[in-house]
Amino acid sequence: MFNIILFGPPGSGKGTQSENLIAAYGLQHLSTGDLLRNEIANQTVLGLEAKSIMDQGQLVPDQVVVGMISSALDTNPQAKGFLFDGFPRTVAQSEALDELLRLKDTEIGVVLALEVSEEELVHRLLNRGLTSGRSDDNNESVVRARIKEYHNKTSVVAEYYSRSNKVVKVKGEGTVDGIFAALCSEIDKRLSK
Ligand code: AP5
Repeated sequence: MFNIILFGPPGSGKGTQSENLIAAYGLQHLSTGDLLRNEIANQTVLGLEAKSIMDQGQLVPDQVVVGMISSALDTNPQAKGFLFDGFPRTVAQSEALDELLRLKDTEIGVVLALEVSEEELVHRLLNRGLTSGRSDDNNESVVRARIKEYHNKTSVVAEYYSRSNKVVKVKGEGTVDGIFAALCSEIDKRLSK
């Protein structure tokens, strides 16, 4: 099993690159943002609680997202590996993920960290907000709050995985194809070891 964390601030291209990576490597895609939006669309209690937090650009409580990831891991026992997109976002989530994977006798192979300037992130998200219907994309103060939340609570996740030399920084500006090629090159280096 080869498991990847695609890491980076909101708008850095995690979702875009995930689609290409799962097609290329046959991994199971696990996006906590998508799982939460699915709960909102289904109007579950969890979804209704999460929506007000997401609309303010803040992080949903750790136990909620860890529970969703735990269920998703259990419902995909045949997966040849997982691509985590937007998870983990706190050190507590990272520790919980490591433990969940350890129980399955596997671990994170690499953390691919997309680097994009703040102004480019804001530009991309507000641009997407014109058509996406995502309520956290169409207001600049919410977009900036999401980025602030990333700096306050999520950037430390890269430090956590740096301790085991698992983090690789990848320039997240340029063409989608060029960034995809850079990500594949990093994955292939590790798969061939
Ligand atoms: P989530 O859905 O994970 O959103 P996010 O991290 O804010 O990420 P985005 O989907 O907005 O950006 P992305 O990096 O995937 O970029 P994308 O490829 O879409 O989370 C939403 C909310 O859910 C959070 O705020 C939080 O409340 C909650 N949540 C989720 N996970 C959680 C967790 N683990 N813990 C707690 N709370 C959690 O691209 C963005 C745009 O840029 C697109 O329009 C795309 O077309 C464009 N683009 C992509 N690549 C390029 C490029 N190379 N050049 C130009 N444009 C590009």
